[in-house]
Amino acid sequence: MPTLLPAELKLWQSVESTVKKILSNYAFQEIRTPLLERTELFQRTIGEQTDVVSKEMYSFLDRKEQSLSLRPEATAGVVRAGIEHGLFHNQTQKFWSMGPMYRYERPQKGRYRQFHQVNMEAFGYEGPGIDAELILLTSRIWRKLGVEDIQLELNSLGTAESRKGYRAILVEYFNDRTDSLDEDSILRLEKNPMRILDSKNPEMADVIHSAPKMNDHLDQESEDHFNGLLEYLDGHRIQYVLNPRLVRGLDYYTKTVFEWTTDKLGAQATVCGGGRYDDLVKQLGGKDVFAIGCAIGFERLVELVELSGKKDQNGHPKIYLVAVGDQAEAKSSELAEMIRDQFEDCVLELNQDGGSFKQQFKRADRAESDIALILGDEEIENDTIGIKLMKEGGDQETISQDKLLESIADKIGV
Ligand code: HAM
Repeated sequence: MPTLLPAELKLWQSVESTVKKILSNYAFQEIRTPLLERTELFQRTIGEQTDVVSKEMYSFLDRKEQSLSLRPEATAGVVRAGIEHGLFHNQTQKFWSMGPMYRYERPQKGRYRQFHQVNMEAFGYEGPGIDAELILLTSRIWRKLGVEDIQLELNSLGTAESRKGYRAILVEYFNDRTDSLDEDSILRLEKNPMRILDSKNPEMADVIHSAPKMNDHLDQESEDHFNGLLEYLDGHRIQYVLNPRLVRGLDYYTKTVFEWTTDKLGAQATVCGGGRYDDLVKQLGGKDVFAIGCAIGFERLVELVELSGKKDQNGHPKIYLVAVGDQAEAKSSELAEMIRDQFEDCVLELNQDGGSFKQQFKRADRAESDIALILGDEEIENDTIGIKLMKEGGDQETISQDKLLESIADKIGV
């Protein structure tokens, strides 16, 4: 579970603010659900046979012996909250949320036991337009952040109805090949055979590769929906790869599923995954509500942005206030508050705990300041202040203190 240090968080915050702007641009609203939910909620939604629930949850008994789990993903909590607060009654909803998730996985680069997701869910939309909108939204995020080399993989898992027939075909296929299955898969064969397709065991790659494919067994409704989505994507010139083996690691999906993958991040190739889950709200005791969503792995996204070389994109100008001498120190605190009042988007760091001019300039440099303001005895005596552009070199100017705000505005271009 990594600690995020201030140096990395600069880029995180810049990516976060870009993503939030785009979400709000597509009329998604924020929702915040608890980090803890009843374990049963995840068992009933994600599915008991999935790796996430059977192997990766942090679960414990509370003081009343109730089993709780740290959320391994956000969808279950959002659906629970929506039902509990009556948010699905005759209305459409678009929610986003962002925060930490917990999975007891084997940690490696790009895979952590605490990681963050940007999660989006849309409720009440039946047609493939919303499927396309989610894909356009995520694709806009990549574009805006300068992320390239990312490809869209698509599949349809069909309606629950159409899956019944496919399930029988799949069971028959694997039953004839039990020698090639591992222990987990033999267990899943009875309870949830489609899970076998999601196995990461390399020794089973061949038997999975040759298995019958869901998209050869879609019913008309699922096929029409999927073709509708492809038409939207073609219209928007969004490129995609059809991947009949894309089943996703969670049980609640119906019809469209998709993943954005990259070869830039080594083994952890999926940056974003999601799909429709039209049966889930009802299954959890709510109304019959259409639903679709996806989640971006934030660590992976930030890593991609970093690799793209376009770092901090909306960094704020930084001002460092150098003050030497008792009077200058007293005055500098007053000026600092005045500057903060005027330039809310600036970062202003006031030198603390003294030091010589040389030492304080060094600190200003280390803080990557754009502008240094300088106050010493001479400036105090003459009601002036020194101002110096740190990154562009050049000389220090001395100006009257009442011209200070004007001069800063001029230098940072506001
Ligand atoms: P997921 O595919 O399990 O889907 O996770 C979504 C994304 O979270 C992954 O593509 C990956 O980028 C990131 N991720 C997952 N596990 C880790 C990890 N251990 N370390 C770092 N990043 C990770 C879901 O969670 C669904 N709830 C998405 C969704 C929303 N479907 C419908 N609505």
